Amino acid sequence: AQELHTYPYEVIQEIADFIVKRAGIRPKIGIICGSGLGSLADIIQDAKVFEYEKIPNFPVSTVEGHAGKLVVGTLEGANVMAMQGRFHFYEGYPLAKCSMPVRVMKLCGVEYLFATNAAGGINPKFNVGDIMLMHDHVNMLGFAGNSPLQGPNDPRFGPRFPALVNSYNRDLINKAIEIGKTMGIESNIHVGVYSCLGGPTYETIAELKALRMMGVDAVGMSTVHEVITARHCDMKVFAFSLITNKCPIEYSDKKDEEANHEEVMAVAKNRQKACCELVSRLICEIQKG
Ligand code: HPA
Repeated sequence: AQELHTYPYEVIQEIADFIVKRAGIRPKIGIICGSGLGSLADIIQDAKVFEYEKIPNFPVSTVEGHAGKLVVGTLEGANVMAMQGRFHFYEGYPLAKCSMPVRVMKLCGVEYLFATNAAGGINPKFNVGDIMLMHDHVNMLGFAGNSPLQGPNDPRFGPRFPALVNSYNRDLINKAIEIGKTMGIESNIHVGVYSCLGGPTYETIAELKALRMMGVDAVGMSTVHEVITARHCDMKVFAFSLITNKCPIEYSDKKDEEANHEEVMAVAKNRQKACCELVSRLICEIQKG
């Protein structure tokens, strides 16, 4: 089959029907597992697993540390659907293709998007292993004229010119802060601004300085296009970054200050348990209503 880059409503609908029919449930919460955070999907109960390559018209992911499967089941009594492995701009896919699974989630019935990522900490107060709850973003790819919503707009998904203020659900952020307190990790939880760059290179010192001046607290290579797509179709969004490395902002020849994928994966693996607990408990709160 020819590779799709734009996905008509009908194609998304077909994929959603394929999943809902085989899963036997309609998920309410969609979870995107960031680098090294795949165990968020492993804690799902009564899981039905769909490998991306076996879902008609679904893209496949190419990054190490990102499996390629959708896991549908229950978590804390809620019907959920998780992406273990997401799509990044640096893989060579257009943004609309990277975030099409969010539209699939929407047509499966998902109302809440939980997006997670590994990110570099720019805010000097952040330490490795901390969690930053996202309350806003700076869309660098958008500054450069790129968006997952480019091209003809299908109003069945949402409006031509969606507003993005209040994209990150305040109530969910507040609940997550409270959960952090009961977990005893409040000093490791922050609220901040995330920025997505195209990657796959990590940032230069000059770029990190520029991002800091713009008010960015953490930087990564994902999530923003997914959030844009989710807000366009009116999903509630909760997102957080696991800080896997501190970004340097001064020139130095210390090799250990350079970001690298192995370190990112190792830190994420170490902090998976806390991230899983945060997600589970937040879903539990949503279920309580
Ligand atoms: N920069 C960009 N993406 C990242 C980083 C970083 O420092 N760490 C994890 N993902």
